[in-house]
This record gives sequence, C-alpha cells and structure tokens, in this order.
Amino acid sequence: MTDAFPRVENRLYAEAVPIDRIAEEVGTPVFVYSKLALCEAYDALAAALAPVPHSICYSIKSNMNLAVVRTLVARGAGVDATSGGELFRALRAGADPGKVVYSGVGKTDAEIGLALEAGIKLFNVESRAELRRIDACAAAHGGVAPVAFRVNPDVDPRTHPYISTGLRTSKFGIPIADAVDAYAEAKALEHVRVIGVDCHIGSQILSLEPFADALARMRGLIGELRDAGHAIEVIDVGGGLGVSYAEEEAPSAAAYADVVTGAVGGLDCEIVVEPGRSISANAGLLVTRVLYEKSNEEKRFVVVDAAMNDLIRPALYQAYQPIEPVGPPRHPEQTVDVVGPVCESGDFLARERSLPRLERGDLLAVRSAGAYAFAMSSNYNGRLRAAEVLVSGDRFAVVRKRESLEDLVRGESIPKDLTG
Ligand code: LLP
Repeated sequence: MTDAFPRVENRLYAEAVPIDRIAEEVGTPVFVYSKLALCEAYDALAAALAPVPHSICYSIKSNMNLAVVRTLVARGAGVDATSGGELFRALRAGADPGKVVYSGVGKTDAEIGLALEAGIKLFNVESRAELRRIDACAAAHGGVAPVAFRVNPDVDPRTHPYISTGLRTSKFGIPIADAVDAYAEAKALEHVRVIGVDCHIGSQILSLEPFADALARMRGLIGELRDAGHAIEVIDVGGGLGVSYAEEEAPSAAAYADVVTGAVGGLDCEIVVEPGRSISANAGLLVTRVLYEKSNEEKRFVVVDAAMNDLIRPALYQAYQPIEPVGPPRHPEQTVDVVGPVCESGDFLARERSLPRLERGDLLAVRSAGAYAFAMSSNYNGRLRAAEVLVSGDRFAVVRKRESLEDLVRGESIPKDLTG
C-alpha cells in the first residue's frame, strides 16, 4: 500500500497536496481523505476475493460522506446500510440499490418501506418479530423481500466490548440455536424470500481466528438449512477486519479473504462482505490547530481546536489514534495530553503522548481518522462540525462545508405562547 499521507522534507502531505495548504484554505478542524488510499484498500480486497463469487458492500456507517461513498461505488462497491438515512445517502451517492444490504437491529416500517421501494439486494433480519414486520410491509408494498437472518454465532472477537456483536449476550441477530426454527417460520411467509444467511461478530478484529470459528459455524448452519429445503444462495460474513492504529499488526485483505474463502468458499454461495474501517480508517486524517499550551503541577496540555465532538473514539473506547505535527518539529519532545475545548475531562485526543513542543498556530494531524470519526461527530458544546476534504493527486475539493452558526439552530423554533 502506498502511504497516502507521506512526509516530504518533513512536511505532511495528503497524496501530493501539502496539508498546511488545505488548512490555510479550508480552516481547521478539517478531515482530509485520500482517494488513493480508499481505492487501494478497496482494490486489495476485491483482488483477494476475485476467485470467488462475491460482493463488497462498503459499510457506510464508517464514513458516509457522499464523495467518499461515490468513490467506492464508482469502483464497483455496493453498500451496507443500517438505517433509512444511510440508505438515502447510499442512493444519493449513486449506489446501485441491487447492491445494497440492510442490517440494523431496529428497522422501522418507514425504513423497511424505503428499502422495498428502492429494491435492495438483501434485508439482514435481526429478530423473528422484525421478520413479520418485513413480511407485512412487503405485502402492503405488493412485493417480496429478499431476506437472510443475522445469526449470532456466539464467538468472542476479542475486541473492545462496545464493538463486540456476536456474543450470546449481544442484542444483535438471532441465536444460532434458534436459526432452523426461524428459517422455517420465514419459509411459511408469503412476502419474504429466504436467500441467505448473515453474521457480523464485531469490529476492529485483529486475529483471523474468530472469523474462522464463526464462519465454520455458519457453514454448518448452511448445511442444516439446505437439508431443511432452504435455497441458500448468499452468505453475508459482515465486516470487522481491524486496522493498525499503533504497533498492532492487522491481517492483510489477502489473509482475511483466504480465511473467508477457506471457511465458506465452495458452497455455491455468493460471499458478501461488509468492510467499513478496513476501507476508510487509514484513508483519513483529522487536521487541527494548536490554540494554547498549558501545564499544571502534574501535566502538560496542548489545547487544540478539534475535540471529542469531532473524534469521539479516544473518549469512548480509550482508542489510540496516532498524532504528529504537520510541519517540521521545531522544539524538543515532551509528554503531553492533546485535549479539545469541550467541557469534559474525557475530551482528549491523546494522553501521555510524546510530541515536539508546539506553539500556538501549529498544525497537528490525527491519523487513521477516516472511519468512525466524522461519522460519529456531533454539535455537543455548540461546536460546528468540521469540514471534509477529498484529495486526489495534486487536487483537492471540499466535500462537506464546515457548519455555520445558522446550521446549529436549523429546525429549531421558539413557540411564543410556551416560552413566555
Ligand atoms: N456490518 C455490520 C452489521 C456492522 O454493524 C458493522 C459495524 C460493519 C459491518 C462494519 O464493521 P467494520 O468493518 O468497520 O469493523 N464506532 C466503533 C465501531 C463500530 C462498528 C459498528 N458496526 C469504532 O469507532 O471503533
């Protein structure tokens, strides 16, 4: 893989564009995405899966910017959507509805209706109750919904508990022990058509073993379902492949594809994968400017203009995100916490990090901020959400404007009779 964010003469670039130029022109905080990195990650997985019938349904929740989604869709990607809003975004970005899969534990009638209207490839059904709703909606719509149950294989992905989804205690999917009965119920319904099975065990998974274990169980289940007379044509193996944020080693797309095809290849099934982070995480940076430096008896702080509302991963999962100065270091290193302006002690981007001493106005780049970064951002503390920029070669464009103060109050009203 090419480093899409190289240092040249000790200045950080996005492909061939100096980051400081983007910061000058667009302001900070700003997310910067590399088209090259997105395409390379996508192409590596596509090449690795080429020998088997497959679909890559990019998990749009990781980065839903329209330009990012379009870049991948133009490459042939389908989309994994998790809400009516994500489905809307996928379609707006030009995704082929016939390549959209829809997972999500609480689909509403309105969302199911949108997906039926669009004619999506597959509903990943999370409960029997939801199956009956989908059947009823499809009946009202005058069609038949293609479905798979999301089956919970009860495998520990050994990742952060908040992003483990395939354990017995998880709210997702149906227990594998119930699957045969649930499929029998589906078969009896008129407006759903069973076409496959689905599982997703978690995210940021760094060992291939949990995938192999889960898929071995799914393979067994496919056998049982076929014996019971179900036509299983699709196995959706979910997403979850981890990336390297620090020293940890992440399996390559090729190694992951080997495990997937080893476990469920040769079954005469199309393999659907739903990668999010492994496509988008390392295709993005968050660029922020130093506002202040301060210290107390215990610690030194670098206060920057990005905060937990822009990138919540450190606060929420104690996640490590690499940080480096954009320009050449001018001072010796010291140990600091990089913190934002939000009024919470959990508002940090980095803790106890060794960085060259910085001055007001210096730029810092947070790496691996292409996934679950802007997508999880908020207006907390009345903060405007950052701009997003897409770079390709020596060109760049703003693909989402920085929010304005007016954006902050859009949709609100002050009813005179209620407010005094
Ligand atoms: N498919 C389903 C059904 C999912 O729930 C997810 C992620 C994916 C695919 C994509 O997983 P990936 O390939 O990105 O691991 N906010 C957390 C991650 C939450 C993941 C939620 N589901 C984080 O920042 O680490």
